[in-house]
Parts: sequence; C-alpha cells; structure tokens
Amino acid sequence: MGRYDKSIAVHEEACRVLSGGVSSNFRYHAMPVPLCYERGEGAYLWDVDGNRYIDYVLGNGPAILGHSPQPVLDAVRASLDIGQAFTAIHPGELALAKRLTELLPCAEQVRFDVTGTQADHIALRLARAHTGRDRVIKFEGQYHGWADNILASVTPPLNEAGPRATPATVPQSRGMPETATGEVIVQPFNDAETLNSTVAREPEAIAAIIMEPIACNTGVIEPADGYLQSVRELCDRHGIVLIFDEVITGFRAAPGGAQQRYGVTPDLGVFAKAAAAGFPISIIAGRRDIMEGMTDGVVHGGTYNGLTSTVAACAATVEELVRGNGALLAETEQRGARLIDGLNALATQHGKPLHAQGIGTIFTTVFTETPPLTDYRDYKSSDEVMRLKFVEELQHRGVRTTARGTWFMSTVLSDEDIARTLEAADGALAAI
Ligand SMILES: Cc1ncc(COP(=O)(O)O)c(C=O)c1O
Repeated sequence: MGRYDKSIAVHEEACRVLSGGVSSNFRYHAMPVPLCYERGEGAYLWDVDGNRYIDYVLGNGPAILGHSPQPVLDAVRASLDIGQAFTAIHPGELALAKRLTELLPCAEQVRFDVTGTQADHIALRLARAHTGRDRVIKFEGQYHGWADNILASVTPPLNEAGPRATPATVPQSRGMPETATGEVIVQPFNDAETLNSTVAREPEAIAAIIMEPIACNTGVIEPADGYLQSVRELCDRHGIVLIFDEVITGFRAAPGGAQQRYGVTPDLGVFAKAAAAGFPISIIAGRRDIMEGMTDGVVHGGTYNGLTSTVAACAATVEELVRGNGALLAETEQRGARLIDGLNALATQHGKPLHAQGIGTIFTTVFTETPPLTDYRDYKSSDEVMRLKFVEELQHRGVRTTARGTWFMSTVLSDEDIARTLEAADGALAAI
C-alpha cells in the first residue's frame, strides 16, 4: 500500500464531480494529488490514509489557535441556540464592533463581511468614493482576493512582468474583462523612491495604495525600516487612502496586526483569516469619515455578514489572542523564531541554499543563493523546483507546509513539535 493511496482514490473520484477535485484554485498544488484530510485537532491533521501531519498550513492562515480550539467551539455552540441570521444587528455584533475599535489602531468604525476578497472590494470602493479618483496602486506579488478589478500581478511570469521599477499590470486570470485592471498600477514592494516618482506623475488620479504591510503571498517579506512610514507620508501629502490588507497579518503579526507592530496606521484596514480561527468572517476597519461613505451612497451588502456564529467565533478568538497583552502570540513568535534559526542552521549544515525568513508567527522557506528576499522578483528568481521538492519531502515525513513556501504557526505548537519538524527538515534536506 502506498502512503497516499486513499487520497489518490478520493481525488480521482472528486475530479468527476468537483471541478479540478478541489473548491479553490489555490488547492491544486499538492503532491502527488491534493490530499484528503478527515480530521484536525490542535497542531495536527490526519489524512484519509491515516498519516498525521504537523500542520503549518492552517487553512492558509485561519487556524491560528490550532484545529478545533475549545473556547471558540464553545462560543459557536452557544450561538447556535439563539438563531443564526437576523439581517439586523444583534448584541454580540455591537460588543465585537466596540472591542475591535479598542484593539485595532485604524478602527474608528468597523463593518463585518465574510471573506477577505469582499472586504478588500469594499475598501477599494470606499477609497474611490472618498477621493473621487479611480486609480489604485498595488504591489507586485501581493494578493488582495480574486475580484476582477484587483486580480493582477500576483505571480506574473518574469518574461511578462516588465522592468523591475516599472512593472506591467498582468491580469492573473482568464475570463476577466480586458478593462478590469485598467485602473491598477503595479509597483515593486520596498522601493519608496520608485513609488514616490510614480505617484508624482499623477497624484490627483490615485484613490488608494493597497498593500500587505508584510508581503506574505510570495515569500514573507518584511517592510524595510521606514518604508511603511514613507508610504504613509506619501498618502498624506496627496490625499491618497492608504489601505493595509491585513487578511494574513491581522491578529498574527501582533494582536493589532502589522499596523500595531510597525506603528504605522493606515486609513483603512482589512482583517480576516486568524480573526476567527477558521470561521468565515472579515472586518473592514478605518477612519470614520471614510467608513461613513457607507451611509452616503457607497453600497456594501452581504446576506451572511455578521452572523451570530461567525461573530461569536471572532469574539472568542480575539480574546484568546489579546489575553495577557498578546502572550500567546509572543510565545508563538519566539517558537517560530527558533524554528527559522533551526532551518537556517540545517541549511548551512547540508550546504543547501535553503533560506528561512519572516517573523516568528509566519515565515517562508525558499532556495536562493542571494538571500534575503526583499521583493517579488527575488522570490520569483528563487529555485521553485527545489522548494516544491522540499515541501514534498517534508510531507512524506509528516510536516505540512504550503507549496509557495509559507509556514503559518499556530499557538498550540509545542517545543516537541518544533524538534520533530527540524528532524523532518533534516531528512528532507538530505533527500533533495
Ligand atoms: C492578503 C490577502 N488578502 C485577501 C485575501 C483573500 O481572502 P479570501 O480568501 O478570504 O477571499 C487573501 C487570501 O489568501 C490574502 O492573503
């Protein structure tokens, strides 16, 4: 019997009834097929073949408290008895909105939605309404959901991407209208000078700069010292709305997100994923004058916004993460930093160009002769074949990471899990 026989059988059957055998394109990239998991508990997942994995994917970020965290399940269970969808405000929703305005630096007001894509969508609409301008700047290699008007240059092939300082806007999907990304200007991350001159060319046309403050979708790349401050100043100078897409960094880079970690407050912030430990909720937070656009002609809808269950999940998750001044996150970050150091030490030991970088609660592993990564081009020039082989060898040894090289840490990982992970990485590096 092969290690993945049952998963392979499920995949073959699934491909007949579920397009591509998965429910999101970002689940294709798994070896030998997208594995079928039947259970998750704490730091671990079990596939249908009975293999156990230390999980560093966590549903692409949400399961920050591990799988099936008790306090969140208890809160959700309690919510099931009071009804689910009222299409009206409920007391839990008010309480959570108040709590978030205390916790998130940019949040004078909030709105709830369901997904990061939708929250980014309304953030861009609010920015355009507020400024009366249409153009939007995004950064190469960053992802803000799969809506037509922002789905560009997430993973553009280098032969289509144009020069490093003046990247082309490359649509990321077939089926988008040709004009969909016509208002999107793509910029290199971590390059304040280029951004300044791009904005200087047409400051009156630019509604928003939208950015992942830590680039987490292609590598995990921290902003250079002073970079976020310089973007903030640029936006202030020209009346541009600064949007931090904290779908990944929210409640992970710090309890108040990357904006708290780096001390730079955007005009609007978008949060999701870790906000509710695996339940679907997203949060748009920001300046009152911009948020109030939604009372003055800016349409934001959503049948499933602010359900009792998702609000309960979010409230319980947030309390776990902020307790003791964010003690759980701080501890997880230290453990993650030890894992990063351990991986880099193994790389040296094996003489392999493996490089781990990021912050302790989220980091990346790539194969590059010229570390560190500072922007998308660095990531894209790293050795993809080796990265995927490493991911596969880790999987064979019971460690699950994302194919793009990102590792999400959960707060329930133990020192023993980290030691086991390093053992697996040692074996994986020897095997590739
Ligand atoms: C930074 C960022 N923004 C937005 C999104 C879209 O969120 P969702 O998948 O919930 O629509 C993602 C998803 O991975 C993301 O990483």
